[in-house]
Amino acid sequence: MYRIAVFVSGSGSNLQSILDAVDKGELKVVVTSVISDNPKAEALKRAEAKNIPTFIIEKGKDRNAFGDKALELIGDNLDLIVLAGFLSILSGNILKVYKNKIINIHPSLIPKYCGKGMYGIRVHEAVLKGKEEVSGCTVHVVNEVIDGGDIILQKTVQVKHSDTPESLQKRVLIEEHKALVQVIAMLAQEDINEN
Ligand code: GAR
Repeated sequence: MYRIAVFVSGSGSNLQSILDAVDKGELKVVVTSVISDNPKAEALKRAEAKNIPTFIIEKGKDRNAFGDKALELIGDNLDLIVLAGFLSILSGNILKVYKNKIINIHPSLIPKYCGKGMYGIRVHEAVLKGKEEVSGCTVHVVNEVIDGGDIILQKTVQVKHSDTPESLQKRVLIEEHKALVQVIAMLAQEDINEN
């Protein structure tokens, strides 16, 4: 079975979409662990409700230390790491060990509204400020460049005149949940086809 670890920071609605898809049999993967950089993340409760082992690694000054600790916890033989609402920047050896095996969901149409400091609600605030007519989400490969890895899938959402950052975030999240599950399913299927 295709084994994945999920990294989270907050509410964990993207994690929930993965767990729900597993329950429904739409996603044939095992979530082996959930790792959070935030001890208060609601996502941890969602994982615990499914008896998935959770780990909290608090962010320190040394950015690489987080990645190193995470790597120590998950080992080097998982099939995929999914950054699902993970708001820290992953760096260090883990990027080499899991080269092309880490994906991230970002709440904009990369290359727009991404990079350092562009995460969560800030993205939607910037999209509205930029008077965009279309926004959306992107699933991409994670490498050393923030939000810079290859794009795997994007889904678009129309921006309404009446939108607030929160209302836009809500509609983009619906597409995020579909996009993330779709990409994980595709990668797991590719793995079956190759092996
Ligand atoms: C999601 O919108 C996700 O795309 C975003 O944080 C939110 C977390 O929601 N991630 C980033 O901005 C990463 N750069 P969730 O905790 O409910 O999944």
